[in-house]
Amino acid sequence: MGLFPTLGALHDGHLSLVKRAREDNAAVAVSIFVNPTQFGPQEDLAAYPRDLVRDLSLLEEMGTDLVFIPQPDDMYPAGFDTWINVERTTNRLEGESRPDHFRGVATVVAKLFNIVRPDRAYFGQKDAQQVQVIRRMNSDLNLGVEIVVMPTVREPDDLAMSSRNAYLSPQERQAALVLYRALCVAHQMYSQQEQRTPIIREALKKMIRDEPMAQLDYVSIANPDTLDELEVIQGPALVSLAVLIGKTRLIDNMVLGIKGL
Ligand code: PAJ
Repeated sequence: MGLFPTLGALHDGHLSLVKRAREDNAAVAVSIFVNPTQFGPQEDLAAYPRDLVRDLSLLEEMGTDLVFIPQPDDMYPAGFDTWINVERTTNRLEGESRPDHFRGVATVVAKLFNIVRPDRAYFGQKDAQQVQVIRRMNSDLNLGVEIVVMPTVREPDDLAMSSRNAYLSPQERQAALVLYRALCVAHQMYSQQEQRTPIIREALKKMIRDEPMAQLDYVSIANPDTLDELEVIQGPALVSLAVLIGKTRLIDNMVLGIKGL
């Protein structure tokens, strides 16, 4: 059985993972749960887009066998008191800007693994740090699930698909293209033999500064496995960014230094 955990408000990025899960497994389970414990107090839990009727009809069309839609009280009944903290992998990047976010993610994913008992579980490279957190937890706690990671699906203009894109005004939607443009500049500099990350980071920061609707949270060039920041790119490197476009926080990433890029 394959499990694909989601927060719902499904888009084509999500559906690419359902399709792959369909191909790999005799049966596919999808969970839809806006997990309150991974949202910070100032974040968009109440406003997070929800469209269960549409989600269910898309999942039915894709041939999903089981959809698990727990309520917060099912997952966190009174007295709930056990958390999973993946430590070094979460004390940076998203973890720095969103304290407790990964504690909520790791805990809910471990619970979903234990409830559904899948052979494989599907995650998107769009959330690259989340992938590393889940891999670490799965291996450290011997959960025994095969973790399958799928590439980021983009809109025709290359904006990474995200449920949060629904918050963007038309002008902001245009400004949001700066994330992928910045990643492409990193790729271009690297292809032209620039390996010094401070120089690449600075170029990306300047691009974000030059977009009036954008405010940079972080730009990182790190070892894709450990997420340790790199000074020089000598092997694979994960370039990742978080940028506020108006009030909407968007993330995107690209891996440099692997064949085919
Ligand atoms: P959610 O944001 O709904 O994403 C569900 C899965 O879809 C994640 O693994 C995410 O990386 C993947 N995904 C999102 N956008 C994508 C895109 N454009 N291309 C490819 N994959 C994409 O991530 C979560 O939910 C939650 O943290 C969860 C793992 C469900 C735990 O609550």
